[in-house]
Amino acid sequence: MTQQSPDKVLIVDDESDIAQILKLHLEEAGYLTSWAANGETGLNLLHANGYDLVLLDVRMPGISGVEVLRRLRSDNFDTAVIMMTAHGNESLVVDCMKTGAVDYVAKPFDIDDLLLRIERAINNRRTVIEKQFLEQEKEDFIFMLSHDMKNPLTAVIGSIDIMREGRLGPVNPEQVDYLQSSIESCEEVVTMIDNLLDIQRFNTGRMPTRVSLVNPHTVLAEAVRRFSPAAAREHILLTLAAQSSSQKIAVDSSILTRVIANLVGNALKFTPENGSITLSCRSIENGELPKIGIPPYVIVPADFSGHHCFVKISVSDTGNGISPDDLTRIFERYVQAGNSSQRSRGGAGLGLAFCKKAVSEFNGCIWVESEADRGSEFIILLPCHSAAL
Ligand SMILES: Nc1ncnc2c1ncn2[C@@H]1O[C@H](COP(=O)(O)OP(=O)(O)OP(=O)(O)O)[C@@H](O)[C@H]1O
Ligand SMILES: [Mg+2]
Repeated sequence: MTQQSPDKVLIVDDESDIAQILKLHLEEAGYLTSWAANGETGLNLLHANGYDLVLLDVRMPGISGVEVLRRLRSDNFDTAVIMMTAHGNESLVVDCMKTGAVDYVAKPFDIDDLLLRIERAINNRRTVIEKQFLEQEKEDFIFMLSHDMKNPLTAVIGSIDIMREGRLGPVNPEQVDYLQSSIESCEEVVTMIDNLLDIQRFNTGRMPTRVSLVNPHTVLAEAVRRFSPAAAREHILLTLAAQSSSQKIAVDSSILTRVIANLVGNALKFTPENGSITLSCRSIENGELPKIGIPPYVIVPADFSGHHCFVKISVSDTGNGISPDDLTRIFERYVQAGNSSQRSRGGAGLGLAFCKKAVSEFNGCIWVESEADRGSEFIILLPCHSAAL
């Protein structure tokens, strides 16, 4: 069993008798302590040894406590700092707290109270460090997912595809079907990884986007072309409604393509045989917005109603629908609606969370209208753009 090493506390105070008393009490309480009689020595000790906590006197000859604190923070030291101040100097304390001190005590202090504050400050710091560590672990894991799992999968898809095309020798129709469904399963995993990565990128503001003027009809037509074979296998009618919008929207077309692919992929998953899926887009004048009936729980971008025109994209299906309780929840990460039969359809509950982040990145909004057993309609509203970008 590893034993935890004692926490290290640095006392920076020019009054040696106070510092010595403090040192005795802290060592008795199990801390490892050092003493610096001025700010300069204190900073040197901190750079050399690193400490969990500093007890820092506000007023000292030479560099003041406030200045030591400022230098610590500008050098990115995450050591917890408790300021020690004489009565009457409390106004300085406000400055110190703003600069990053976690607490302060007024001299003469009650030692039990001080020990409690020290323990609390060190525990808080430990929690923050653990949280940062977990965040880093999460980032590293997601990075690993993208490079170490996605790349081999892409290679697997490529190899199966070569076999499926018969380039390595003849394959019969049954074998083609099996190879095709292997490809689709691998592609599902790649989509999940992409969704997970991109949700993380949107959350950290690091999603690279290349916005251009895009005709939404073209994106929908491409989705219908891509998903037609899968729909035909399930005996589902996949169509693009005749009415189309010539209006352009300002989006990253590859991201919009993935949003639509997620919606159509879901519709295929949740629509039984002989059902139908319809994609459509049309433009809406500002005055027509109230008729569209955006549900009150949908958060629209701040300047949304200032646009003169919008494009309404819709993906509707005749599937098993979504219950009222789940209409908003399903846009959250890892949420899958309803019963275990839906769960058994696989997936991670990431697709719609990705769609929501992506649509709001382009100043739009997304929601679903549905009735159990009567199908669902996913609706996206995005502002039109006429000017060149
Ligand atoms: N067209 C639909 N009809 C019925 N339910 C749907 C439909 N689209 C989504 N859902 C419900 O919303 C849930 C969340 O969808 P989402 O796309 O986020 O995750 P998923 O499809 O389960 O997994 P993933 O997209 O990560 O592969 C689904 O599990 C399902 O319960
Ligand atoms: Mg999905």
